[in-house]
Amino acid sequence: MSSLFITFEGLDGSGKSTHLRRAVSWLEERGVPVCQTHEPGGTPLGDAIRRVFLDSQWGQIDGRVEAMLVFASRRQHLLELIEPTLAAGTHVLCDRFTDSSCAYQGSGRGLPADWIDQLDLLATERRRPDVTLYFDLPATSAYERGRSASRWARGDVDRLDDENLAFYERVRHRYLELVAADPERFRVIDSDGDKENTWHQVEAFLEQIFRPPEVTP
Ligand code: TYD
Repeated sequence: MSSLFITFEGLDGSGKSTHLRRAVSWLEERGVPVCQTHEPGGTPLGDAIRRVFLDSQWGQIDGRVEAMLVFASRRQHLLELIEPTLAAGTHVLCDRFTDSSCAYQGSGRGLPADWIDQLDLLATERRRPDVTLYFDLPATSAYERGRSASRWARGDVDRLDDENLAFYERVRHRYLELVAADPERFRVIDSDGDKENTWHQVEAFLEQIFRPPEVTP
């Protein structure tokens, strides 16, 4: 099997990052070569961009500036980490990729889809993941999870966690449009239930994709 580029997408609070870590452990336990990474970030330059991107001290950042930051990080990530890792035969599991920019900067911030497409062309030559797990839940649930007292007490919040419910609604709506436009690539995970229920869906996907080859007698 050639190495796969698999992305995890969803609203903040959808649980995708927790399940990505669990998926990586699941694969490692079975001896499958896998690299875990994330966006914005994934390289030293990308992580520096990430710190700037998420820092609340800037207040409102213009949507175009946000888009240029995430795509700058993404180009470096593709060149320095993602493509060489895939070429070396290791699967890449990435927390967010271009779909996040379509949803957050496109619909969330209201940037026209063709501007995002032009940035995508410049930064990635429209590179698409092989598979995208989209963790779906109603915007209200994500919003409430994002604002949970324990999360704020842990300091586990960033600049975009402060957005309003309407922003979350627009982001989710765009994700659902992306899924409808490319059903072959997307696998929808219902993440509105409890953690174990969500994990079972992820595990079923992993078993289907990484099933050991059948030995013929
Ligand atoms: P992430 O680390 O996935 O945070 P969380 O675990 O809270 O979901 O992503 C950080 C934030 O960056 C998240 O609010 C979404 C945002 N983001 C964009 O707005 N555009 C992008 O292209 C990417 C990759 C992330």
